[in-house]
Amino acid sequence: MSQAISMTPQEVSDYIADAGRQAWLVPDVPETTPRREIKSVGIIGAGTMGGGIAMNFATVGIPVTILETRPEALERGLGVVRKNYQRSADKGRFPQDEVAARMGRLTGTLSMEDLAECDLVIEAVFEDMDLKKKIFTDLDRIMKPGAILATNTSALDIDEIAAVTSRPEDVIGLHFFSPANVMKLLEIVRADKTADDVIMTSMDLAKEINKIAVLVGVCPGFVGNRILFARQAQAQKLVYQGAMPWDVDAALNTFGFRMGPYQMSDMAGLDIGWKKGAKTTNPIRDALCELDRRGQKTSAGYYDYDENRRPSPSEVTAGIIRDITGVEPGGAPSQDEIIDMCIHPMINEALKILEEGKAQRASDVDIVWLNGYGWPADKGGPMLYGDMVGADKVLATMEKLGAEDDRFAPAETLRKLAREGGRFTEVQPG
Ligand SMILES: NC(=O)c1ccc[n+]([C@@H]2O[C@H](COP(=O)([O-])OP(=O)(O)OC[C@H]3O[C@@H](n4cnc5c(N)ncnc54)[C@H](O)[C@@H]3O)[C@@H](O)[C@H]2O)c1
Repeated sequence: MSQAISMTPQEVSDYIADAGRQAWLVPDVPETTPRREIKSVGIIGAGTMGGGIAMNFATVGIPVTILETRPEALERGLGVVRKNYQRSADKGRFPQDEVAARMGRLTGTLSMEDLAECDLVIEAVFEDMDLKKKIFTDLDRIMKPGAILATNTSALDIDEIAAVTSRPEDVIGLHFFSPANVMKLLEIVRADKTADDVIMTSMDLAKEINKIAVLVGVCPGFVGNRILFARQAQAQKLVYQGAMPWDVDAALNTFGFRMGPYQMSDMAGLDIGWKKGAKTTNPIRDALCELDRRGQKTSAGYYDYDENRRPSPSEVTAGIIRDITGVEPGGAPSQDEIIDMCIHPMINEALKILEEGKAQRASDVDIVWLNGYGWPADKGGPMLYGDMVGADKVLATMEKLGAEDDRFAPAETLRKLAREGGRFTEVQPG
């Protein structure tokens, strides 16, 4: 029998503070491991992520060379960085002359050879395995010995990327979050062969650029996105049970997320990974995109938007959902049920991540979700929330969801916690 644990707000914030301190520790690598010196950084791709990543280094005085394929892309990327710095200076965050000083640390190039002497290079091109493999093959040829070769991939197999080089020990994932100059979280992804000094140098560097680092292992989506995928899959299923996107979002907003899954999709753009005529695993999204309802940028997505970008539930979306799902209005899960059906699979997925040894400790999962995905602080993160709810309740939800879909089968550890007691936050990685 597992008991739900009630915690005072002070106990929750003490837990979070302690989890934050723990996240910096890497027990299986000696703290005395010599670090590599990082005095210059190369970034490949000046898109959404590349530009933001570059700002982190330029801000703390580390010179950055940014590589693009076309002059227009380079100009556009550097223009966005300048605008961001200018906006911050105008708000009084730093003196006006800092804009030029920081921009002065950024050099654009169209030739990869110009990265050769950088101590660290971070690849931030499109999420495409073949392209990333080609880039790492070139980096292997070009980069000076001892340079750290990092990828910002969101979910791809970093072991596979490292394997195209003759120096997989120098390869690591540095997974920034968007906007990369603002978001605090940095998932440092240790691949099979990543050297100890590459890990420790990356952890130190994270501190230097004012990030909160969490060391994770290679699996699809790593820790943060893997748990997000579980929530998204469940959010998609809920509309087949009569819930509308705004019902799902409202439930998660009530739980404490500033944005629910459909609000997030509309903001990010529904057409990520979609092409005209595509039939993906999400036919509702496909149908919306075909109507040019691609999210906030087209003033229509799951929601309708007015001229001030205020969302309202959409009759068009509701009609598409009814057509595709065949579900009549009424009989939808309650708000509490929606919360459990979205949140409990996240807890379950986190346990599977721990079983596979892809996180160093349970509380690291909480640090990832608190700092990268807006998990409400009063609910402590998926693992502490598991303690608050109790394993019995989470297991009951997962048995139901797992019976409909294998992906949601209860984790072994969840069964064990329910059977034998114990806390989610104290689960040890496998
Ligand atoms: N956007 C996000 O929220 C986010 C968050 C975390 C991680 N990521 C990951 O970061 C990576 C980049 O994503 P993004 O959103 O910045 O994409 P993006 O499309 O905004 O930018 C990619 C840039 O790479 C450039 N590029 C392509 N091939 C190149 C090459 N051979 N050499 C140099 N530049 C090249 C493109 O011109 C483009 O400007 C992806 O792997 C993505 O999964 C994205």
